[in-house]
Amino acid sequence: MSTPSDAPTATVRDSDSQDHWELSKLPRNARPKATAGQYRILDHRPIGDRYMALTLDAPVIAHTAQPGQFVMLTAARRGEKTPALPRPMAIYSTDVTAGTIQVLYGVVGSGTKRLQSFEIAEEMFVVGPLGRSFEIEEGTRRVLLIGRGIGTCSLTTVAQANADNGIETIAVTSAREPSALIGADHYRSHGAKVYEVTDQTGDSTPEALFATLTTDWDSNPPELIMTCGSDRLTRVSEDLAVRWGSRVQVSVEAHMACGLGYCHGCASGARSEGDESPLICNDGPVFSWEPVSAAVCTP
Ligand SMILES: Cc1cc2nc3c(=O)[nH]c(=O)nc-3n(C[C@H](O)[C@H](O)[C@H](O)COP(=O)(O)OP(=O)(O)OC[C@H]3O[C@@H](n4cnc5c(N)ncnc54)[C@H](O)[C@@H]3O)c2cc1C
Ligand code: FES
Repeated sequence: MSTPSDAPTATVRDSDSQDHWELSKLPRNARPKATAGQYRILDHRPIGDRYMALTLDAPVIAHTAQPGQFVMLTAARRGEKTPALPRPMAIYSTDVTAGTIQVLYGVVGSGTKRLQSFEIAEEMFVVGPLGRSFEIEEGTRRVLLIGRGIGTCSLTTVAQANADNGIETIAVTSAREPSALIGADHYRSHGAKVYEVTDQTGDSTPEALFATLTTDWDSNPPELIMTCGSDRLTRVSEDLAVRWGSRVQVSVEAHMACGLGYCHGCASGARSEGDESPLICNDGPVFSWEPVSAAVCTP
């Protein structure tokens, strides 16, 4: 998952840039009611050498989750007191017919180590679906998804929804090395045109990616760009959006304690129309990412 240092921040442009981009809340559209309960684990296995795939029997979440929403997974079993705080995880895929959801996660610390210890047929306490989803306006014909590493998991359900709605998906999955690439097969199974780029092969740099995408899509650009997992890819999205006149939406990560908007531990630090900075869990994790003129930012 993206580290705090490479996660999108409220303003990512260099100080010598003419424009700044900021998070802006998406319209408050209706979202599904979150459920809380013990859900049975149907499958739990390693994917490659660094990620785990967890499949849960969670029909209500599978039926109601919208693209870009997440769940809070509790890594303590019934009767155990720690770890007390649940961990946020994007919903990687849903299967409405089977009533299941899948989560892909990297084992990075104590919480995810405990999650990894859960076995098939055990139950896990899950709250979800949570957060604001990606929003695709009526009339959108083509969407570009740009994800880095495990951050790609926040984008994969968009391809699933697009396939159902007749919207074309172009998907970039980026990682340090080929074994860390996420989502390519999932994207392809939903009809997306997929670019797999890595640091190892040298095609993941902002310059290389910009060149590839403009060569292929300048004549037919996507109206909407969605990104997650990397500050550098957010910059590429900005440059493409300026060139193509596209809109950008970004899924942002933060440490979360409740995931529900109560603890205010996930305040984004971005400006807002009210007194309080938007909360990543409740006002996001998906935000509109918009340019503001330098004049507005100058005190
Ligand atoms: C909306 C959302 C969706 C997410 N989806 C996924 C997903 O699909 N798959 C996945 O693997 N992870 C995802 N994450 C990140 C995941 O929640 C963290 O990796 C997890 O909580 C770490 O728990 P831990 O106890 O194992 O690690 P900790 O011991 O808490 O942390 C270990 C290391 O990871 C860093 N870290 C922990 N949480 C975050 C975070 N939220 N952002 C950046 N760095 C963090 C810590 O700073 C530390 O360096 C998501 C986070 C959010 C907010
Ligand atoms: S995590 Fe508690 S308010 Fe966002």
